[in-house]
Amino acid sequence: MLLSRKLFTVGPVHVDQEVLGAMTKPMITHRTKEYKSLHGAIVEKLRKALDTDLEILLVGGSASILIEGAVRNGVNSKTLGITNGSFGDRSIEISELNGKTVDKVRVDWGRAIRPEHIKGRVGKDVEAVHWVSNESSTGVLSDSVAIADEVRLQNPDSLVFVDAVTSAFASDLNLKKLRPDSLVFGTQKALALPPGLAFMAASEKLLAKAKTVPNRGFYTDLLKLKKQNDDNYALTTPPVSLMYALDFQLDRVLKEGMASRYKRHREMADLVKAWAEKNLNGTFPEDGYQSATISVLNRGDLDFDKFHAALKAKGYEISNGYGEVKDKTFRIGHMGDITPAAVRELLKVMDETLEEVQ
Ligand SMILES: Cc1ncc(COP(=O)(O)O)c(C=O)c1O
Repeated sequence: MLLSRKLFTVGPVHVDQEVLGAMTKPMITHRTKEYKSLHGAIVEKLRKALDTDLEILLVGGSASILIEGAVRNGVNSKTLGITNGSFGDRSIEISELNGKTVDKVRVDWGRAIRPEHIKGRVGKDVEAVHWVSNESSTGVLSDSVAIADEVRLQNPDSLVFVDAVTSAFASDLNLKKLRPDSLVFGTQKALALPPGLAFMAASEKLLAKAKTVPNRGFYTDLLKLKKQNDDNYALTTPPVSLMYALDFQLDRVLKEGMASRYKRHREMADLVKAWAEKNLNGTFPEDGYQSATISVLNRGDLDFDKFHAALKAKGYEISNGYGEVKDKTFRIGHMGDITPAAVRELLKVMDETLEEVQ
């Protein structure tokens, strides 16, 4: 792997040179046969990689546009928002800013969301339940299948909206069991591409509900997106160059195989956890729910700014803490095309740097 800048950030992440190179093919317009075959190939490869028959919609923009799209299309008035960190809070804010009433379940930061947290909370009037699969502020990966099962047990009509921005393509989300109505992710995380495209795996149930919900907007109207998608077209001008890179990257992803990809991500998380336990105060998430893509380490007495400045001087970049735990943690991103060997190299440099700054 060519790590020109040695990014171990939480997104955007390192993009391999040959993937960047795929973006330099000649431009085409998006109302051509060539575009249609590119679009169609991408959707099929995404489906194959995620092992799903769900509709896959794609939009130029970042993932938030389709997190907003889910609420605007699937909800007339009320949702249940479960949060265990900053991005869960954000999804609640998105629902409220779109005029929906949100019942809230707040789980302690660092803890996983569990079915028991929503016992008795998914009443008949709850049209959708939303949560984050891998909370990027705390590095916690919850069991979304178990949560979705509990939602449907209480109210089979409720929609299930999962933010999979930092878990898709790194952890097995088991979509056949999860059966999300909306599962959203983007290009700049575990797909290891530049930012600019958002995706939603959308269910027929959500698309049917959308027909009954007014004010879906234009850019976020899933029915308009679906109509174009049926023809392998985008609704608005798509980032064609990024799609070239995505098509190329999906071939590499499928060649690696999803099981190997999931295993590689878990191996990297385990390496970082072991390092944090040996050298600092361990990792922030409760045991057993550690994210495969983002390790959140407890700072303890470490002067993080000094440590990171020294690390950066050697060419390695990691990420600050985020939200409520910003000052007591820091984050290491290990997703996409990063390898366990690269993580070992980073940890070795972190060893030396710790000695220098302590
Ligand atoms: C879990 C999670 N959800 C949502 C977002 C927002 O994604 P975007 O910036 O692509 O809109 C992020 C970004 O880091 C995230 O980590």
